[in-house]
Amino acid sequence: MHIILMGPPGAGKGTQAEKLVEEFKVRHISTGDMFRAAVKAGTELGKEAKKYMDAGGLVPDVVTIGIVRESLSKPECKEGFMLDGFPRTLEQAEALDGILKELGIELDGVVNISVPDAELVGRVTGRRICRSCGATFHVSFNPSRVEGVCDKCGGSLYQRDDDSEATVKNRLAAYHAQTEPLIAYYKQQGVYKGIDGLQAIDKVYADVKASLGK
Ligand code: AP5
Ligand code: MG
Ligand code: ZN
Repeated sequence: MHIILMGPPGAGKGTQAEKLVEEFKVRHISTGDMFRAAVKAGTELGKEAKKYMDAGGLVPDVVTIGIVRESLSKPECKEGFMLDGFPRTLEQAEALDGILKELGIELDGVVNISVPDAELVGRVTGRRICRSCGATFHVSFNPSRVEGVCDKCGGSLYQRDDDSEATVKNRLAAYHAQTEPLIAYYKQQGVYKGIDGLQAIDKVYADVKASLGK
């Protein structure tokens, strides 16, 4: 399975990816997670990316395409991958087409989870993430059993630096200006699968699987 998970900030890409990884054992490639890991490690990449992330803008294409190219070239990716949050610009989509061609990989689907902006602000500001295993929760929509503690591993939960209301507005603007146009791009390629993300997490998951014929 070689798929792309698309959608605005807070649509549920990471949440659905967690489930897909568990059931289908494919590699999860999230550019956002890679940038956050680099920030945490204090690398040059992390320092560069943080400037854009904190402002709610996109990291420059040349940087992002470079890290994805490196990831996809690993032999495990031939077996299957799930790209989450990449591509996000037309330049990234065109670069990805080139990389996949070189690797002899065809996409099985581009799954776009759509959710209206008004709902997304609440989803993002209420999100909590496990410091140890990365599992995602929501204070109202998907709460952990014990407040601040991960159900899966007992780790402590934290809030992402870019999950403030002000930054989310900028992230949404970047999404509409730069990423939304990719819907037409992938419709034209005949691989587009549209999913209603305004449903319960399990119902969204059922629709995602059905769209992929699973
Ligand atoms: P990234 O980490 O990719 O963030 P994002 O796209 O803004 O998406 P999120 O991770 O915020 O949302 P999600 O769709 O994964 O939602 P989740 O499942 O967590 O990118 C961060 C930054 O890195 C970017 O702003 C940019 O600066 C940079 N970057 C990354 N990729 C880049 C690229 N390709 N090019 C350039 N720059 C790049 O769910 C959200 C919340 O809602 C959770 O609390 C969850 O529990 C809850 N929830 C999920 N589903 C449901 C549901 N169905 N009902 C109710 N609640 C739900
Ligand atoms: Mg995510
Ligand atoms: Zn955990």
